[in-house]
Amino acid sequence: MSTAAPLLETRDLRILFPTQDGRATVKAVDGVSFSVHPGETFGVIGESGSGKTTLGRALVSLLAPTSGQVLHDGENLATLPARVLRRRRREHQIVFQDPNAALNPRMTILDAVMEPLQIAGRSSAAEQREVALAALARVGLAAEYGARYPHQLSGGQKQRVNIARVLTLQPRLIVCDEVVAALDVSIRGDILNLFADLQREFGLTYVFITHDLSVVSHISDRIAVMYLGRLMELGPTEALTETPLHPYTRALLSAEPVPLPSHLRTGRRIVLEGEIPSPVDPPSGCRFRTRCPLAEPRCAAEMPAWRELQPSHWVACHLATPTTPLPQETP
Ligand SMILES: Nc1ncnc2c1ncn2[C@@H]1O[C@H](COP(=O)(O)OP(=O)(O)O)[C@@H](O)[C@H]1O
Ligand code: SF4
Ligand SMILES: [Mg+2]
Repeated sequence: MSTAAPLLETRDLRILFPTQDGRATVKAVDGVSFSVHPGETFGVIGESGSGKTTLGRALVSLLAPTSGQVLHDGENLATLPARVLRRRRREHQIVFQDPNAALNPRMTILDAVMEPLQIAGRSSAAEQREVALAALARVGLAAEYGARYPHQLSGGQKQRVNIARVLTLQPRLIVCDEVVAALDVSIRGDILNLFADLQREFGLTYVFITHDLSVVSHISDRIAVMYLGRLMELGPTEALTETPLHPYTRALLSAEPVPLPSHLRTGRRIVLEGEIPSPVDPPSGCRFRTRCPLAEPRCAAEMPAWRELQPSHWVACHLATPTTPLPQETP
């Protein structure tokens, strides 16, 4: 584990939204703390509705925290003057699931890749063009793609364009929010390899958000497991996937179609029943208790503490212990 200062840190981060009728509060992110180190790939996994996108947007200051903090290099961006913040924000970029989200259908690919530089406004048109063409080449798109329009490209090519757009700004951190989820399975590996190559070349740091454990377990150094606005478990990828401490992580792992360690494949299959509850009125105590096969009365009464049970391996579950495995969930 790196001993360098964290590139990114959240402290008790909360992001609440009013419901549509304005009468209640959606607790999308509700008390999340973690650090991401320079050069690391930090995976965030959880079902749809667990607050991942909201978290990702807050990490790159597209959403302001309701309370708590997001720190970049130890600095709270919310306290910086607007001009300094604009400059600093370029260092933290986000790529979304929908390859079309950041592309204007009436803009050529070259113009789309030049656009962030034009907004930054610190270089000549010729320089912007040169940087944009180099970024396109770096993501594997030949110069002639620059003259095309988004509808003439495949989903994978459009996602390459989105990566080229953020590369032009020379970011240090890229939040990748389900970046391969909308792509054909056959090309997901190519895009993930591209992210890995760019990380090696530019020393990038990633927060890799996904609902798909098979995606994140291949590329992440550490994984945080999120459920209903809170972290359930956080640890090095190998420890978390081989000796998961939280029943929710185990359920996610046992649902995986990919080959898993034998102790997870046999006799431990846990089926996640029902839907994720509403973040407007989350369960008391442990948020996972309404779907947890191990829940006991204490789980409704007390919120489990966030404990470091193994070195760098954290969990929020009353029953998790460092040495004894959790009881068998189902035969
Ligand atoms: N702008 C918003 N207003 C109200 N509720 C929101 C808003 N954005 C997200 N939510 C709600 O917050 C919860 C978490 O959403 P999201 O962050 O998109 O989760 P995920 O990306 O894990 O699917 C969901 O219940 C969602 O409906
Ligand atoms: S605290 Fe209780 S309900 Fe929550 S995960 Fe642990 S056993 Fe299950
Ligand atoms: Mg999402």
